[in-house]
Amino acid sequence: MSAAPVICVDGPSGAGKGTVSLRLAAALGWHLLDSGALYRVVGFACRQAGVSLDDSDAVAGVARALDVDFRPTDAGVTVWLSGDDVTSAIRSEEGGADASLVAALEPVRAALLLRQQELARLPGLIADGRDMGTVVFPDAPLKIFLTASAEARAERRFHQLQGLGESVSLARLLTDIEQRDARDQSRSISPLVPAEDAIVIDSTALTADEVLQAACELAKSRKLMS
Ligand code: C5P
Repeated sequence: MSAAPVICVDGPSGAGKGTVSLRLAAALGWHLLDSGALYRVVGFACRQAGVSLDDSDAVAGVARALDVDFRPTDAGVTVWLSGDDVTSAIRSEEGGADASLVAALEPVRAALLLRQQELARLPGLIADGRDMGTVVFPDAPLKIFLTASAEARAERRFHQLQGLGESVSLARLLTDIEQRDARDQSRSISPLVPAEDAIVIDSTALTADEVLQAACELAKSRKLMS
């Protein structure tokens, strides 16, 4: 594995991993891996190709052949599949549900493992996901597990979707989040659990600035940031 340092940011959906990861990557000038986007793209590519999401070998074939590209912009990273910008298409609620289904398939995780590890390049990588610290980068010098109550996460998602002009019910979002948590935590392969050496940050009562500050302090204490 590469000698580039990795900061892992794992945790459940809606805890704020994406925001803190993007801002940490900008502050440090490091690369960014949004591993959830990889699983989302696999689900999306399967739907496009008419591949059933419970056919694990066929889905793994799609994952292996994936022509995906992440391009940084001022507003965040855009995701391209075979030359098409699929950033907003994969961000839907359905996209998240499909990602969670394909992510439970062992051959799919195996197909994506090396692809993720190869992104650990100098000067360093911020890796956002569920199993960054437990499976993909077990030797990372800093592992953060960012969590928040399911209610707080549902409310954040509710406001985000409202901002996008999508009408959804808060109760429905909370049920979806709880179902996805249960599936992510209980799957036999790479379940969503903090690594033994992860530092847990609970963002329920914190602003995005406060989460970033806590993460920067941890990075400084590990001599990853000056
Ligand atoms: O982070 P995001 O919500 O985009 O992830 C979508 C889904 O992909 C998660 O609910 C989870 O099931 C799966 N995932 C995963 N391992 C990762 C990242 C995401 O299983 N490292």
